[in-house]
Amino acid sequence: MPIVAKGKKTAIRPITLEDAEIFARWWNDGRVMKDVGFPEGLGISLEKVREDFQKEIREGKKGFPDSRRFVILDRLTDQPVGEISFGKIDYSKRSCRIGMKIGKVTEQGKGLGADALQTFMDYLYDRYGFWSIDIDVLSDNQRALGLYQKVGFVIEEEVQNYWTDPSGNHRDVVFLKHQREPRKLVDYLNKRCSVRDFGKEAVGETVIDEVLEAGRLSPSGGNEQPWKFALIQNRELMERIVESAYNQVWMLDASFWVVLITKIVSDDRGGRDIQKSRFPQYEDQIDEMDQAFYARLNQEEHQTKIPGTHMVLAALEHGVGSTWVSYFKVDEVQELLGLSSNEIPSEILAFGYPQKPMKSTGKKPMESILLRYD
Ligand SMILES: Cc1cc2nc3c(=O)[nH]c(=O)nc-3n(C[C@H](O)[C@H](O)[C@H](O)COP(=O)(O)O)c2cc1C
Repeated sequence: MPIVAKGKKTAIRPITLEDAEIFARWWNDGRVMKDVGFPEGLGISLEKVREDFQKEIREGKKGFPDSRRFVILDRLTDQPVGEISFGKIDYSKRSCRIGMKIGKVTEQGKGLGADALQTFMDYLYDRYGFWSIDIDVLSDNQRALGLYQKVGFVIEEEVQNYWTDPSGNHRDVVFLKHQREPRKLVDYLNKRCSVRDFGKEAVGETVIDEVLEAGRLSPSGGNEQPWKFALIQNRELMERIVESAYNQVWMLDASFWVVLITKIVSDDRGGRDIQKSRFPQYEDQIDEMDQAFYARLNQEEHQTKIPGTHMVLAALEHGVGSTWVSYFKVDEVQELLGLSSNEIPSEILAFGYPQKPMKSTGKKPMESILLRYD
């Protein structure tokens, strides 16, 4: 399994089935589990842990499971020393809940926990665009409470008798929150690049819905909204479209596509007249243009770049990368999607989590593109 984040002392990687054994050992060790209220350990079988891991690994490929576990490795030895997980994602609040344990008792108190926590939070903020992270701890676990506050968690609430442990004791729980520095839109754009190397992880429905909604809310000339959006996740259809896109096979690794479809605005809505006002010297030529040809080439009507840009930005905020694709045979894709003759697929946006962190592709310096009229 690839390392997803590296700190000074620790590294983090997703769980594999082989980790079930060591996790079962930790979870059944009262010395590790007493701080979370199980002084006798969980008493869980290796088979059950394996089953849970199997389910989690399988579901992770389809979107977010309830929680996702990672292994903390000691960078000195490369050996697993603990576990860290996140889940309970609240997309509207851009938040999640995390949990952590150093399972190897001999490794506790060496600063590995603080390092892993900081490393994991940086990873989550960057990868998924969360704004805040929640954690909770039993009130009497002062060591963990101190550690969480050291890395910047702030106590939100302490609830008396929140939980009853297996021995029947009512336990108080402290809820803490960590907030990320607010990030400006240009900070996201500073890192954006076209992503053609996608990770296997699927983008969740809620994020996809938000991306589409960002497109729907776009401006257009006369508020005509001359577009439709095709959400594509069907592998077979993707393969056929890729053939029409001059075999840009990297597109197949994306989690989902949105095809931006231009709805041709008929002349009676004044489309051709607008172009004549914009380019009066070509009035005659515009008049002579065949209706169908004119409609297909008329970039003024091809306003789908606007919803497309909204979508790219909405995705970026969730850590989802994308690439615009317009290098494809328009008529073939039109047919594959069963569109009518006045619905033209103008671009395809391929979305997914980037395999490696995004880094801006070189852009021209401002002084070479900016004209000032002071
Ligand atoms: C309208 C449009 C169409 C594009 N079509 C393709 C395409 O068919 N295939 C591709 O690999 N990249 C395509 N790109 C991506 C560009 O190559 C890329 O945006 C450009 O090189 C700048 O890199 P950046 O996005 O990393 O800043 C397209 C970009 C735009 C805006």
